[in-house]
Amino acid sequence: MPLFAEQADAAAASGAFIHQATFRQLSDLYLLSTGGYRPVTRFLSAQETASVAATMHLPGGEPWSIPVIFPIDEDTKRRIGSASRLVLKDGDSIAGALHVEDIFKIDKSRYAQNIFRTEDEAHPGVAWLRDAGDYSVAGSVEAAADWQFDIPGNLPISPRETQAIVARKGWKKVVAFQTRNPIHRAHEFCTKIALETADGLIIHPLLGETKADDTPVDVRLACYDALVKNYYPAEHTLLAGFPAWMRYAGPREAVFHAQVRKNYGATHFIVGRDHAGVGDYYGPFDAQHIFSDFAPGELGIEPIFFDFVHFCRKCGGMASTKTCPHPREDHVHLAGRAVRRMLAEGKKPPNEFTRPEIAAILLQAAQAA
Ligand code: ADX
Repeated sequence: MPLFAEQADAAAASGAFIHQATFRQLSDLYLLSTGGYRPVTRFLSAQETASVAATMHLPGGEPWSIPVIFPIDEDTKRRIGSASRLVLKDGDSIAGALHVEDIFKIDKSRYAQNIFRTEDEAHPGVAWLRDAGDYSVAGSVEAAADWQFDIPGNLPISPRETQAIVARKGWKKVVAFQTRNPIHRAHEFCTKIALETADGLIIHPLLGETKADDTPVDVRLACYDALVKNYYPAEHTLLAGFPAWMRYAGPREAVFHAQVRKNYGATHFIVGRDHAGVGDYYGPFDAQHIFSDFAPGELGIEPIFFDFVHFCRKCGGMASTKTCPHPREDHVHLAGRAVRRMLAEGKKPPNEFTRPEIAAILLQAAQAA
């Protein structure tokens, strides 16, 4: 009988360890078990983690840029003892199982240096790692057949479902767009320029955990809905969800974001300015440069790069530093912090920065907060 069909008590009696999974662990369980992280299908071993951290490849040679680990603290390690499997609980229900192959000490310093390019604890990824527990459980996973990953919104989130929609639409060249923000004019410009040469666009917002000062997911979902309804052609656009959590690993995460979108049916992936970046930890185009560390075709998905996009008063429209000859004074661009300040003061961000429907949703959310 499969483990997840048993009651938790019976599982405990049979030698399994009951583990209340975090939202991030559930997200990883979901993506591992649905093929979203392919070629990775299990929580990585010490050797695999070291290989990915040092070389951006699994020991078998497949490219992969961010180790998928299952951190636990010392006390949990002691309580797991010699149990051969963890029953992963999602609230009161059973989400699945992790078959314990090994428990190893995470080399946090090396992980942080390689993945985040810093050990500064002000970096949200480094802070996560610091708080995450010193050990990691390696092993294969199974999701319970009746487990539904409860992610905000009603968007399709599984690779299989998204691929099926793409196939039904008959798209061959498919560009995916990752975002953790409301979609502003610069984002819209990138997606539409890319769509000009493709059959279809997957707008693929990340719906898992983000840092506290990022726009809340329910607000973002309302923005995506309004934008797609009003500004995108239904026959060439699919709004779907990506149920992963943000690592804020900049370049490493851009590669990871691209590879997983292949599993969702995309052939191309947009990488703009400071993709998955935070603060000043990465150069604005480091997340593009990293793709040249891979052989042509190795990732199985093609990145599409964008320069810094802005509204230009002289051009009278959106442009990038590549296509606009005018000086910065003519550009309208607002950093996230400036937008938050405007909203807190009850001011609507301008039309040149964001569509009025989006500005209205953001302002209403800021006033309700
Ligand atoms: S991310 O963490 O998901 O990368 P965000 O949602 O802001 O953050 O960005 C989504 C994508 O749009 C990324 O590829 C990013 O590089 C790109 N992007 C965002 N703003 C700009 C901009 N002004 N110019 C060019 N690319 C941009």
